[in-house]
Amino acid sequence: MRIGILTSGGDCSGLNAVIRAAGISLYNNLKGVQLVGIPEGYGGLIRGEGSILGRDDLAGILDKGGTILGTSRQPFKQMEVVGDDGESKLAKMVRNYRAMGLDCLICIGGAGTHKNAALLKREGCNVVGVPKTIDNDIYGTDVTFGFQSAVEVATESIDRIRTTAESHSRVMLVATMGNKAGWLALHSGIAAGANAILIPEMPLHEDRLCKFISERKALGARSVIIAVAEGAHLRSEAGLKKKQRSFVRTERGETTITNHLAEYIEEKTGYATRTSVLGYIQRGGAPCAYDRLLCTRLGEAAADFIAEGRFGVTVAVKGNRLVANELEDIAGKYKHVTRGDRMIKCAKELGIFLE
Ligand code: F6P
Repeated sequence: MRIGILTSGGDCSGLNAVIRAAGISLYNNLKGVQLVGIPEGYGGLIRGEGSILGRDDLAGILDKGGTILGTSRQPFKQMEVVGDDGESKLAKMVRNYRAMGLDCLICIGGAGTHKNAALLKREGCNVVGVPKTIDNDIYGTDVTFGFQSAVEVATESIDRIRTTAESHSRVMLVATMGNKAGWLALHSGIAAGANAILIPEMPLHEDRLCKFISERKALGARSVIIAVAEGAHLRSEAGLKKKQRSFVRTERGETTITNHLAEYIEEKTGYATRTSVLGYIQRGGAPCAYDRLLCTRLGEAAADFIAEGRFGVTVAVKGNRLVANELEDIAGKYKHVTRGDRMIKCAKELGIFLE
């Protein structure tokens, strides 16, 4: 059996741990297996590239950040667009899947990766997905790998930012990643004792936040720490698409929400306000122990599905069990933070500002 494996979309901690677990499990439990590593996500499949990943290649990578296969983003919208050569990217992938003699392809990635995997399934390829992303926003799974490692990094960073904020008696806006969903800002914000958390699911009214800051300062607090998800936005920006939102912000002479809020807060409250964008440090480096275990379980489960001939699914976590979700049932959907989420309730009861 020839099994392809690729990592696609934005990277995160734990990709190599999944490759390792899936590969070792396949080699140990299926006779005559060949694991073919496809470089740079669907990009490699489009170009028809791949090379054998032997047992030796899988050694020593459990705790290695990034991905030994490399990754790339392949926008879903362009998959079926026919190029100058008369063939779409999807058609090329299907042709190369067959030319490479693959019996199955393991697609490790986020929401976009799963949408593309569903297209491959539709075209008759055997695919098994594994849910990755620091955003934790893949529909149908309680958790994605990479998320907890990112929470650890963001939490430690906010802890550090608080000490300098306390020294200088400042308001600090800390931007985490999370474009569509606010899980990372919510979890790291609560874990680091942030005073306010701003997420895309709960559009913000700036004056309410300023009132909260002034009240907290009046009570004698030296610092106000605000965890801001990258995709958080104002009520006045709700309903705008990402591109329209950046257009509106550019018109105002601002780039990001933190940028806007820093100026607004300083002007309205008079308190010195600074921003800190955590950025890619949340995606890099070794996976935490929780993710190493999760990745190992997910990779092994993907290998089990292949052994059982269970294709066209992605591995998902439900409670403490690993289950299979049909790709077409989850593709194109997102798991958002809801107002009823128990973490939201917990944060509100602790007096954390949330819209
Ligand atoms: O991995 C998901 C994510 O972290 C989003 O939160 C963010 O918008 C995006 O990746 C940015 O990644 P890149 O710059 O690599 O496209």
